[in-house]
Amino acid sequence: MAWLWPLALSVLFSDVIVNASDKLCFGYEENCSDSQLFYPQGTCDNLAVGWAQSLESQNEMFYEFGDFGYVKKRIKEITNICQPVEDKDNGFLECTDHMRFCRGNNIYMDFRGLAKQTHPLRYTMDVLGPGDVGARCQVDDAKLRRISDHISPLQSWGPELRHFQRLENYTCDLTIETPIILMKIDAAVSYYHHFCDFLNLYISLHVNQTIGETKDAQVIIWETYPYSSMFSSAFLPFTDKPVWTLRKIMNKRICFKNVMFPLLPRMIYGLYYNTPLVPHCHASGLFKGFSDFIRNGLGLPSFEPADKIRVTLLSRRTQFRRILNEEEILRDLKENPSLSVKKVSFDREVPFLEQLKIIGNTDILIGMHGSGLTHLLFLPDWAVVFELYNCEDEGCYFDLARLRGIKYVTWKDKEKLFPQDEGKHPSTGKPHAKFTNYSFDVSEVYSIVDEAADWVMRHPSYGRKYSHLQKKDEL
Ligand SMILES: *[C@@H]1O[C@H](CO)[C@@H](O)[C@H](O)[C@H]1NC(C)=O
Ligand SMILES: *[C@@H]1O[C@H](CO)[C@@H](O)[C@H](O)[C@H]1NC(C)=O
Ligand SMILES: *[C@@H]1O[C@H](CO)[C@@H](O)[C@H](O)[C@H]1NC(C)=O
Ligand SMILES: *[C@@H]1O[C@H](CO)[C@@H](O)[C@H](O)[C@H]1NC(C)=O
Repeated sequence: MAWLWPLALSVLFSDVIVNASDKLCFGYEENCSDSQLFYPQGTCDNLAVGWAQSLESQNEMFYEFGDFGYVKKRIKEITNICQPVEDKDNGFLECTDHMRFCRGNNIYMDFRGLAKQTHPLRYTMDVLGPGDVGARCQVDDAKLRRISDHISPLQSWGPELRHFQRLENYTCDLTIETPIILMKIDAAVSYYHHFCDFLNLYISLHVNQTIGETKDAQVIIWETYPYSSMFSSAFLPFTDKPVWTLRKIMNKRICFKNVMFPLLPRMIYGLYYNTPLVPHCHASGLFKGFSDFIRNGLGLPSFEPADKIRVTLLSRRTQFRRILNEEEILRDLKENPSLSVKKVSFDREVPFLEQLKIIGNTDILIGMHGSGLTHLLFLPDWAVVFELYNCEDEGCYFDLARLRGIKYVTWKDKEKLFPQDEGKHPSTGKPHAKFTNYSFDVSEVYSIVDEAADWVMRHPSYGRKYSHLQKKDEL
């Protein structure tokens, strides 16, 4: 099952021409050699002093914390929590360290308590209590106690599964045969945070070694709020069933034939939120794989260069971090004959799929610090993201761009940056760079974009694609 053939994988990969006889793999499978890898491993350019002793160990570190090595590590951790021992036993549960990922069979859960709640639930840890969860199998109680050590809503399944116990005779009001994916999600309103959910779902399907195999699974979000998000179409590559929440099953005792508890968005040293990333390393195959999976799963075409360098400026319609001299900047950039410049404002009016189409046809993405920059995940490999000003949050999009393997630039010269005022944090009242608007020196913007354009044109994948296109035209 771990081996995958190109034909079955057409939805997973774009831009890959493979010999049909080659077995391709991601790197975590048994006997997967470098020459069979779909995605090359990320690389480190310079030694990060204080992080690693050698470039080699630094590469390994990046592989393990930000690339398919992360999947490999989780697979190694999988350990039995509950196993069948008697003839009639049919239950099963296994998990990785700290119960960050689990899967099981014939698992019983009692949700009747939820119906008594007067308020909708989200980020709560008491959906399941003692007696509410278990299976007909032998629980390793010591191990269960040991690995349910991260009791925090979005870090682990510990809060739910710590109550797991052997059940002898139980009644199911409903038995669900369909494979289930239970998900505890972060903020579905935020592009940055919600994609951390989708990335972890993608990684989990790799850990489960069933990525791209089926879209049959039913997702159930571990909340009783209705699920709604402008990014909800990102579920389509994963499942062809509409997403449920606990509301759907809350007055019942459910038996899950086949259930997966995926990795979570706020795990300690998880991906990608708030995790320190080893410096000077970039281009994680895992992130490239995720980007392809989402784009291909949504039916987006593979990246093609155009005859000009396409610049897209993200215009914010928010209270803070507006670009005050946006029009002046755009006018100036449009004077550069090698650029094709466009301003977009991605609000609820622009469906997410439309946004991704524009982003897939962008070579340089310009925007202020903000969730919209998460679009960098879906830019072409040769693209540059220009975070106009990072508002002193230096790592966030820089690290995401490194993981995705695209070039990142940002504003350096504070003398040429003009905040409207010093900004005021809405809750603390203290000065804060994120809570004001900015003007930018126009010629500085121009020269940074010009350099970025150079970078795009020199990028090997841009050149290769382009010459390939020209050849095709000649034929
Ligand atoms: C991996 O290779 C070893 C030695 O060639 C072989 O015994 C084993 O069956 C292989 N495993 C898989 C999953 O192909
Ligand atoms: C379970 O049911 C069987 C058969 O009905 C019965 O013999 C047994 O005592 C029950 N066990 C428990 C723990 O209730
Ligand atoms: C996870 O893997 C198991 C096999 O080990 C499979 O039965 C199950 O359907 C998979 N779950 C998903 C959501 O792919
Ligand atoms: C930033 O600009 C917007 C739109 O012009 C305005 O509503 C807001 O008050 C400005 N913020 C600050 C801190 O001046």
